[in-house]
Amino acid sequence: MTDDRTLPEILVCVRDRGEGGSSCVGRGARQTLDALTRHPRVLAGQVRVGTVTCFGRCMTGPVVRVRAGAFQAPLHAADVDAYLDAVVNDQTS
Ligand code: FES
Repeated sequence: MTDDRTLPEILVCVRDRGEGGSSCVGRGARQTLDALTRHPRVLAGQVRVGTVTCFGRCMTGPVVRVRAGAFQAPLHAADVDAYLDAVVNDQTS
């Protein structure tokens, strides 16, 4: 992953409350994070990916957000491709 601070950064909530708790990890955040970090746009250095421990929107997870931007929830692994396209296109328009 790149460390270029001028690039958009997508933050993924990775809080895990364990069995029975409602959290982003319980709702698929690890799969979303994995899909993001393996995505060609991220590997090419167009977007950075980071993690946070909670956005306070736990019932709608997996929750992601472009740093200082809009929330996207839920964002499941299957939707990462379209989400990254929208983030990169928004940054370049
Ligand atoms: S557990 Fe993800 S927003 Fe709280």
